[in-house]
Amino acid sequence: MKRNILITGGAGFIGSHVVRLFVTKYPDYQIVNLDALTYAGNLENLLDVKDLPNYIFEKGDITDETFIDQLFGKYQFDGVIHLAAESHVDRSIMDPLAFIRTNVMGTAVLLNTARKHWKDNMDNKLFYHVSTDEVYGSLGAEGFFHETTAYDPRSPYSASKASSDHFVMAYHHTYHLPAIISNCSNNYGSHHFPEKLIPLAIHNIKNNKPVPVYGKGENVRDWLYVNDHARAIDTIFHKGRIGETYNIGGFNEWKNIDLIQLLCRIMDKKLGRPEGTSAQLITFVKDRAGHDLRYAIDASKLNKELGWEPSLQFEEGLEKTVDWYLSNEEWLQHVTSGNYQNYYQEQYQKR
Ligand code: NAD
Ligand code: TYD
Repeated sequence: MKRNILITGGAGFIGSHVVRLFVTKYPDYQIVNLDALTYAGNLENLLDVKDLPNYIFEKGDITDETFIDQLFGKYQFDGVIHLAAESHVDRSIMDPLAFIRTNVMGTAVLLNTARKHWKDNMDNKLFYHVSTDEVYGSLGAEGFFHETTAYDPRSPYSASKASSDHFVMAYHHTYHLPAIISNCSNNYGSHHFPEKLIPLAIHNIKNNKPVPVYGKGENVRDWLYVNDHARAIDTIFHKGRIGETYNIGGFNEWKNIDLIQLLCRIMDKKLGRPEGTSAQLITFVKDRAGHDLRYAIDASKLNKELGWEPSLQFEEGLEKTVDWYLSNEEWLQHVTSGNYQNYYQEQYQKR
């Protein structure tokens, strides 16, 4: 079936992988990538697909009601895959209102516009909201987040995502808007903005700069290769049940310090440095405020119902990621010039 799909946030990290997968795998679909091109949005992420006939880029803000309404009128979307968001916890601690604006208001504007344009015929329509495992809060040493785990967000970022998830389900229940949510664990891979742990560490190790590890490095995250997340989104978009939530995760928990040690060993090997050189850059710094201790996703529903599973082992994925960063020096230079330096100063100078 020919489809007209709106992907929001397609110039960001995960969004660019989703756009790439959809425009190459489904030449019959028309994919419109809507992105405001904030500091995190980068059209260089999509250079390899930008000229494909089924790809269109629209620059705009999801909080702009008039613009979003015109966009729905222009393209007559039958599917939305909503990824646009402010996505970094540390920035949400610095500026929470920006997160409420984009993540809550922006999502509400999209929902309301979809409802308006689809209200006379909801057949074959789908609003797919991409969310995070952080809405579930923080785990102790044991246990997993299940789809039924009560929401308990603890950072401004996760609170804004939790709020947006609630609005999605409220529109589903109240207005019968066909909607699905997925909640995914931490992603890693190419085109990841170097404010997040893995790309920041790669960038700093390469430049012989300190690698800041918050607290004692004992916080645990469950890491998933970004292409596997994009594959999961494809599977859920096409086969997921309306009104359901699906957890997506890597079954791959790492303490931050162990992850950074592994990354240092890989970097030594790739850069031809004696083993142990990069690890000397590890610097323990003041902990993040309200730092969630542990995230771990139970993704068995997605596996059992829809047959999805991660394709890569972590070490293999991490090596591929390092290779990408080492051979894309220009990309890294572009995103770390200008405003990035100001952010880095503000975030790390006092730690
Ligand atoms: P990102 O920060 O790399 O990209 C976000 C994109 O959204 C950027 O291209 C940005 O320009 C765009 N954007 C921001 N505000 C906008 C606005 N008001 N209007 C239009 N576009 C706007 O984020 P990401 O890491 O790719 O995350 C994408 C989605 O996946 C987010 O919704 C995030 O909550 C979710 N998620 C991320 C992870 C992760 O590990 N990164 C894990 C689970 C879920
Ligand atoms: P991050 O990549 O920001 O993702 P999230 O906070 O959404 O999980 O951080 C991953 C983990 O690494 C988290 O426990 C915080 C920690 N961290 C550091 O120790 N140092 C850093 O410089 C950053 C950015 C994160």
